[in-house]
Order: sequence, then C-alpha cells, then structure tokens
Amino acid sequence: MSADAAPVLASLSAAGAPRARHVAIIMDGNGRWATERSWPRLVGHRRGAERVKQIVRACPDLGVNWLTLYAFSTENWKRSTEEVLGLMGIFARYIQREAAAMSAEGVRMRFIGGRERLDPKLQALMAGIEARTAANTRLNLTVAINYGGRDELTRAAARLASRIAQGEITAPSEADLADCLDTAGQPDPDLVIRTSGEHRTSNFLPFQAAYSEYEFTPVLWPDFSPAHLAEILDRTSQRQRRFGAA
Ligand code: IPE
Ligand code: IPE
Ligand code: MG
Repeated sequence: MSADAAPVLASLSAAGAPRARHVAIIMDGNGRWATERSWPRLVGHRRGAERVKQIVRACPDLGVNWLTLYAFSTENWKRSTEEVLGLMGIFARYIQREAAAMSAEGVRMRFIGGRERLDPKLQALMAGIEARTAANTRLNLTVAINYGGRDELTRAAARLASRIAQGEITAPSEADLADCLDTAGQPDPDLVIRTSGEHRTSNFLPFQAAYSEYEFTPVLWPDFSPAHLAEILDRTSQRQRRFGAA
C-alpha cells in the first residue's frame, strides 16, 4: 500500500462509504452526570476531561484527523464563580499534563474563541502548546474556549472591515470572511455531534457548520466512549451529502 493510500482507506467505513474526517463535538451533560450521582458538578467536568483524552487518542485510528471540541461558550460565564474557575483550572491542567503525550502522538492543538477574558497564565499555556505542537499533523485538535459563533462573526466582521478599509479587499467573498474567522485555514466540520440529548447548537460554529451533518445522542459526555464515536461514524457515513446539488 502506498503511503498516500493509507489515510484514504482509514477513512472508509466497513461498508466502504467515506467517513467524517472532521468531527466537531458539543460536549454536554457533565453537570447532569454528576448531579445524578449527587456529586458536585465539577466532578462531572473532571470526568469529562478524562473522556477528552480517550477520544483524542481514538480519533486517528477512526480516520478522523480534525477534531473540534466545544469546551466553554461565551454564555458559560453565567455560571457560578466556583464552576467557572474550576473549569479554567481543568483546561490549564489538561494542557500541562497532556503536553508531552500530544507531542509524542502527533497532535496539533489550537484554540478558537476570544482570549482576552481568560487568565493571562491560561493564555500563556494556550500559546505555548500551540507553538510546541505546531508541526504535528496526525490529529488537528481545536478546542473552543470562550467561544461563541456570534462573537466570532462580530470580531470577523470588524477584521474584514479593516481589510476593506486598508484596500486589501475590494469586493468581499465568503472566503474572505472565512479567512477572518478564528478557524481561518481549517476545514469545515463534516459532522457535528452533541451529547446529552439536547437538540440545539448553542452558538457553535454557525458559519463553518452550515453544511455539516448533525448527530444528537442522549449519552452524557462523561459516558461518551470511543465505541460511541465509532458507531456514529459508521452510521452517519451512509448519509448522502448533496451540498445543494440535485
Ligand atoms: C458541558 O456540560 C460542559 C460545559 C458547558 C462547560 P454542562 O456543564 O453543560 O452539563 P449539563 O448540561 O449541565 O448537564
Ligand atoms: C454548550 O453547552 C456549550 C458547551 C458544551 C461548552 P451548554 O450546556 O452551555 O448549552 P445550553 O445552555 O444547554 O444551550
Ligand atoms: Mg449543558
């Protein structure tokens, strides 16, 4: 088998249909998972972070080489200070503890969302891991922190306006706007999965997911395993994506 053929074959399901290469996940249900057990919500978030590690490790073998995860929305600041600070601590520890493994396993880690509101120490960890893993290609992992699609589009519109004002762009195209998004240069998701049984997108990738397939599962994020992901990938590979064509 040629080196070129390997990734193509890896992305075929058992039935031979193409599988999603870019999966985006709205990781929901951590709080309910903990509350069901009479545990504090943060226990659910910590268990959720363990799941992230397992899903990240499983992706390349499932033919997924782009994984975008919704970790904290622009609306999640409405939660208690204890929960917000706890989540920020989980993000920082994840970066610190997983840095070596991600480097060794070829994971490139990037972030989308507004960074100014985050603690400067967390911002430094984020910039550090992005630089450290920048040459990796096996899995492109993008984590959305303080991300909101409307906020991203608002910031992108300002960037586009400034490029127009500077004369870099005259008649703006969809591609010009896409270049101003936090995801500039990244492919659109093929499949968006939301766990926990909610049927909404909660401000996640409104521009990028305009033609994505959606899958909603009742499984709470701390229970979502690589086997669940594999099953969804197999099943959704049968869907015909037409992108508006006949
Ligand atoms: C998702 O789990 C994680 C974040 C939004 C940070 P939730 O915390 O929203 O869990 P539920 O929806 O309350 O169960
Ligand atoms: C969406 O979940 C955000 C993340 C998973 C990070 P939420 O729990 O915040 O969404 P809503 O409030 O149920 O819409
Ligand atoms: Mg939720």
